[in-house]
Amino acid sequence: MSATVISGKELAKKKREELTHEVEGLKGKGVTPGLAVILIGEDPASQSYVRSKQKSCKEIGVHSELYELPESTTQEELLERIDALNKAEHIHGILVQLPLPDQISEDAVIEAIDPNKDVDGFHPSNIGKMMIGQETFLPCTPFGIVEMIKSKEIEIEGKHVVVVGRSNIVGKPVGQLLLNENATVTYCHSRTKNMKEMTRSADILVVAVGRAHFLDADAIKEGAVVIDVGVNRNDEGKLVGDVVYDNAKEVASYITPVPGGVGPMTITMLLHNTVESAKRIVK
Ligand code: GUN
Repeated sequence: MSATVISGKELAKKKREELTHEVEGLKGKGVTPGLAVILIGEDPASQSYVRSKQKSCKEIGVHSELYELPESTTQEELLERIDALNKAEHIHGILVQLPLPDQISEDAVIEAIDPNKDVDGFHPSNIGKMMIGQETFLPCTPFGIVEMIKSKEIEIEGKHVVVVGRSNIVGKPVGQLLLNENATVTYCHSRTKNMKEMTRSADILVVAVGRAHFLDADAIKEGAVVIDVGVNRNDEGKLVGDVVYDNAKEVASYITPVPGGVGPMTITMLLHNTVESAKRIVK
């Protein structure tokens, strides 16, 4: 059996068309959604992500502003910039690209962003709301993953979800969102002893470790849904996921590709959150 591919690229295209109409509607009411992106330093991967975010904003008519600050930026300078953006009426979303240089506390920066403009969904108050099932900005990658699963009408309720990876950005929140959908959730991480035994019991397997080809088909149950969050360069410089795609697709029922899977949905949900934030102003 060869798995059905869940194309994030196609789903993102559809959702971005819907968002374009919503942006037009908002502009008709005198509000242009605005996103401010702050990039510190010159990490090539971060630069590339930020460029994609800017380009995607432009495509759907969202105003975006990029603040490129040097690697030597102090925490105080960054907090001052965030404070100004918190107060800026034309800005509805603020995103500080992570990771940050060592001299800046990630926690302090995330907490400084107005939770009402936290379109990344990383602020402790928004994470707390997500945990107790209240409406709020949801972290973009986990939000995109849930949308991808739902787009294929795959049942989540009662299913065993295994999440490999426990980052604050992906692993932890994706497990929580799927728990909110009534799944039974197991987290695996670097200290997990019997990883393969765990992953082989998953109906829905989410892999977010950031290591090329971390799991092969022998770690996947026949008919499982496989969501691959990894974006890694292999020895030939090609983008590959955390899962060995060609082998896994012979075992899985559904699978997300890399590239063209989770990645495009992450940016789409960022656009969604920014538009939602602007809509709150109009209401
Ligand atoms: N770095 C890697 N992923 C993300 C993300 O989703 N948001 C931000 N702000 N930084 C990131």
